[in-house]
Amino acid sequence: MMLDPYEIRKDFPILKRKINNHPLIYFDSAATSQKPRQVIEAIKNFYENCNANVHRGVHTLSQEASELYENAHEEVAKFINAKGMEEIVFVRGTTEAINLVAYAWALRSLKREDEVLVTLMEHHSNIVPWESLSKINGFQVKYVGVNNDGTLNYEVFENAISERTRIVCLPHISNVTGGINDVKKVVKMAHEHGALVLVDGAQSVPHLPVDVKDLDIDFLAFSGHKMLGPTGIGVLYGKHEILEEMEPFHGGGAMIKEVSFNTITRRCSISWNDLPWKFEAGTPNICGGVGLMAAIKYLKGIGMEAVRAHERMLTGYAMRRMKECEKVRVYGPKDASAKCGIIPFNVDELSSHDVALFFDSHAIMIRSGFHCAQPLHEKFKLKSSARASFYIYNTREEIDRFIEVLKEIAGF
Ligand SMILES: Cc1ncc(COP(=O)(O)O)c(C=O)c1O
Repeated sequence: MMLDPYEIRKDFPILKRKINNHPLIYFDSAATSQKPRQVIEAIKNFYENCNANVHRGVHTLSQEASELYENAHEEVAKFINAKGMEEIVFVRGTTEAINLVAYAWALRSLKREDEVLVTLMEHHSNIVPWESLSKINGFQVKYVGVNNDGTLNYEVFENAISERTRIVCLPHISNVTGGINDVKKVVKMAHEHGALVLVDGAQSVPHLPVDVKDLDIDFLAFSGHKMLGPTGIGVLYGKHEILEEMEPFHGGGAMIKEVSFNTITRRCSISWNDLPWKFEAGTPNICGGVGLMAAIKYLKGIGMEAVRAHERMLTGYAMRRMKECEKVRVYGPKDASAKCGIIPFNVDELSSHDVALFFDSHAIMIRSGFHCAQPLHEKFKLKSSARASFYIYNTREEIDRFIEVLKEIAGF
């Protein structure tokens, strides 16, 4: 079933804007998505009617806020088919979720002889924490190379996994090429060697159905702001038994059951709270959780299969039309069905920033630069790239306009 982007657009106030006298065309959803009024209303309603701290007060407002916040965890759990909300930790975003795994799990579990496997297509957020930590623990960070089109070579991947591998990290979808990785295959290979798998779902959870049970993922990280929700809220999914065994990331209020001062030892003995609260120290982003719940309800109302089908149609159409422009180089998989709605490209002799600025003068918002994935750009022998990315509110008409402007740029 296809979605109707024209109906959907009515829910997104920002899309009515004009910039430089042109109607806004937003092709930067891989960086952050726009927000429907249902999400904006949920946030407004929370602050106008329910605002209170959670898990602290016995009063009505605190009870209501706590219930909403817990419901938000439940909603996320159902969305990715987790067992329950005990497997859903709210964090600031994908970056913080990955750091949580690195510092709460790897810091304590990994030794000098261990290896962490990451791919060359990783966003920096799945490289930097591992490199930093390896300097403390002495473990090796090993990189799995990619093919010339930025796709994974599963044979190379399998050969890179060994008994030393303790965790395999990979993006479900590359934020540069949009290429979709076969996570299930990698999970099977990793588990055969007793390694855990951390999937960066920043670009997949917003765009296609993701089922953590079916994929048998150990950790999944994603960000609310890329899936219609507000900034500052994201999710770490972890298998119950793994989270249960882990020590907390941050210490403070809400993540403890008891902090009791022993007058003989003159120390405090501390017991952790139940999952997921053990990992949510301090006052959480309550309103962010409420906004994320509204975003998920909105996406569920459309259906993730329909989201995927729409973006596949737009990507195929845009890639076909981009071939009309001689001076335009498109990177990544050539087959639109192996991709989500992300198209990296360059125009001969022009920098990606100049291309993005020219588009901007026509009110078309695209990304330019490294997209926080410099190693993959180095593999492509590129200094940078321009990137157009689509979501549920984009239309073929917008792509036609994009091609018109692209031809103008390429004509210079
Ligand atoms: C694949 C991927 N991983 C991680 C991130 C980081 O997400 P955040 O900045 O929301 O933490 C992004 C953001 O662009 C991304 O695309």
